[in-house]
This record gives sequence, structure tokens and C-alpha cells, in this order.
Amino acid sequence: MEKINVGVVGCGNISGIYFANLTGIFGGSVKVFACADLIEENAIAAAEKYGIPRIMTLDEMLGCRDIQAILNLTTPLSHYSINKQALLAGKHVYCEKPLSITFEEGAELCRIAKEKGLLLGCAPDTFMGAGIQTCRRLIDEGKIGRPVGGNAFMLCHGHESWHPNPAFYYKKGAGPMFDMGPYYLTALVNLLGPVSEIATMNGRGFETRTITSQPRYGEEVAVEVQTHVCGLLRFVCGAVVHITTSFDVWAHSMPNMELYGTEGSIEVPDPNGFGGPVRLAAPGKGFEEVPLSHGFSENSRGIGVANMAACILGKSGDFRANQDVALHVLEAMCAMTRPGSDVYRMQTRPKRTAPLEVEYDDGVIF
Ligand SMILES: NC(=O)c1ccc[n+]([C@@H]2O[C@H](COP(=O)([O-])OP(=O)(O)OC[C@H]3O[C@@H](n4cnc5c(N)ncnc54)[C@H](O)[C@@H]3O)[C@@H](O)[C@H]2O)c1
Repeated sequence: MEKINVGVVGCGNISGIYFANLTGIFGGSVKVFACADLIEENAIAAAEKYGIPRIMTLDEMLGCRDIQAILNLTTPLSHYSINKQALLAGKHVYCEKPLSITFEEGAELCRIAKEKGLLLGCAPDTFMGAGIQTCRRLIDEGKIGRPVGGNAFMLCHGHESWHPNPAFYYKKGAGPMFDMGPYYLTALVNLLGPVSEIATMNGRGFETRTITSQPRYGEEVAVEVQTHVCGLLRFVCGAVVHITTSFDVWAHSMPNMELYGTEGSIEVPDPNGFGGPVRLAAPGKGFEEVPLSHGFSENSRGIGVANMAACILGKSGDFRANQDVALHVLEAMCAMTRPGSDVYRMQTRPKRTAPLEVEYDDGVIF
């Protein structure tokens, strides 16, 4: 079967699940052709563990005619430059989130991709999992009626207690909104459609963070981003949803996400995961768990890459984790992290992508 040869750039913390899934369940439309990392040992370790046949530099990948797509798993500050170089070299690109760290850069990448007739995709792809797709089906079937409002919370105390190299989470291009906001916003845009305007306020709990994970235990990191970010989003469909993303919260009792409609409420599972539980409440009744209707409830990172590959191969016409959605999410994140508290009117308005089929083909076509 024909496959898209992918070159993976960045063999750090998140790369393992991509390598495992792209050389495993999503191997039907993707072949991991080569891997690259600035730290050569990281590339060597990945190649050995996952049987990747070649280790290359980024430049070698960009010059390699056998590679059709670049999977960019580097840290956020490198996303724009690598994405741009890859597109200019004629490669399709799929990038970990965020697409880039400014709206202007993101818009430029999207323009280059369109001009060159290339696909540009971006994480997250968790919205393609069983949890959010089940919610999508329930909303599309009218189970909560017309969506009116919602609440979304991503509250934690940051990643310096577990990530081996956590400094980037407090630098430009990260913080709770750029790091975790993409999961929530992409899910919301899939469930409700695009956002029309945003009101926002944000703050910062700490000026420095101390790493408590190994191997950088005890190092201090200067915080360069807002770490408590609140937004009110008005969607084109009329719903108004509150979101808070924070790295300043030690404990809380808020749900990940709830949506409220004229005929009921839905509790949406953690949009940073692929599974459930999904819970639905009819008027006058409490929440009841609903069985998941779709596949991919386990950690299926890479499903977005497989879907992009299927689109390149002409097997699917529905590119879900596409550049228009990624740019819209980037615009919303930029709006919520800027100084001041005016209402921001969104410039982008992507199409709501098609839901996934309940039954899917093992060739991973979607
Ligand atoms: N760690 C997670 O749990 C997680 C989860 C979801 C998404 N992400 C996203 O994945 C991306 C990577 O995160 P991570 O946690 O794997 O970071 P990491 O620091 O563990 O790994 C990044 C790797 O990229 C390499 N790299 C950086 N710049 C490079 C360049 N210019 N050329 C080649 N290699 C380069 C680094 O040497 C490193 O090995 C980020 O955008 C992050 O937001 C991470």
C-alpha cells in the first residue's frame, strides 16, 4: 500500500508516543522514514527503540526527495522557523502545538502552504478521539438542544515537577494558554464552530519557578508569560463559554469542560486525552454517563498525521487538524494572552470540520 514518508524533527519527551503509534496502529498510511534532533543521542535513542531506518539533519531531510512530510516535534520557539523551511522546501508539515507563537507568523505559514499547494497540520488531534467525537455526535443529534454557554478549566501548578526539561513552559510560546489552551480551544471549535469575539484578563502568580524534576532539580526559571489566563468566548453559533487556563493553582474542584444547551447539559471529558467519560443531563435530571460511540479512546497521538497522510494520498477529503483551525486557535490564544482587557474580534473563521465516522477502515483513512 502506498504510504507517505515522514521525517520527524525533535525526538524529545512527546516523540515516543508518535513513534510508537506511527510505526504501529497508524502505519497504514505513514512510514517514519527518518528522525532528527539537535541532540544526536536523542535521535539515536529513538531510531534504536522504534526501528527508524535513518538519522538525518533537518537540512538533509529537507533536501531528501523521498520525504514528503515533516513532523515537527520541537519546542514552540522553533516551530515557525522549521515549519517555514519545510514548506519552502516543498514538504507537507504537521507540527506539535502551537503552530507558531504569533498570529502574524501563523498566517504567513498558512499563506505559504496554500500558495505551494501543501498541507499544513497542527496538534492537537485529541479532538479526533472517542471522547470529543462522542460529544460531537450528541451535540449534532440535538441532545442538548441549542448550545447557550459553557465553562472550561485547565488548572494545575505547571510542569516543573515532572518534565525533564520544563523551562520552555515559562517562555514565550508556552504558559498555560499556549501549552494547554490548544486542546480546549480545538475541542470547543470542533463542538461549537468558530469563535467570533473574545474578552480576556490574565495575570501571573510567580516571577520564578524552581524545577523539582530530574535532571535539572533546583534550577530557577524566570517566568516570561502570563500563568493565569481567563477568557470569555462568544461563538458564531451564539454560545458564550468561559475558559481559564492556569499554572498557578495547587488544588481545585472544577470540571474540565461543561456545555449547556436549551435541552440539557453535557460534561466533556479532558480534551487533553482521547477517551471519556462523557456525561449527559436532560432537563430536570442529573448527569448520566453515555457510552463512547467512537474508536480511539487510548493515547492515539499521531491520528492527525495519519489523517493528513490519507488526505495527501487522496484517500480522505476531510483534513481535520488543518491549518485553518490551527490559525483560529492561535489567534484566540494570542487574543487571550495580550496585555489589556478589551474585547477582541476574531479575524479568522474556519469551517467546522466533519465528525469522524463511527465505523472506520483499518487502513486509517477517516
Ligand atoms: N511533553 C509532553 O507531554 C507534550 C505533550 C503534548 C505536546 N507537547 C508539545 O510537543 C513539543 C515538544 O515538547 P517535548 O515535551 O517533547 O519537548 P522536549 O524538550 O522534551 O523535546 C524537544 C526535542 O526537540 C529537539 N529540538 C529542539 N529544537 C530543535 C531543532 N531546531 N532541530 C532539531 N531538534 C530540535 C530537542 O533537542 C529535544 O530533543 C512542544 O511543542 C510541546 O508543547 C508536549
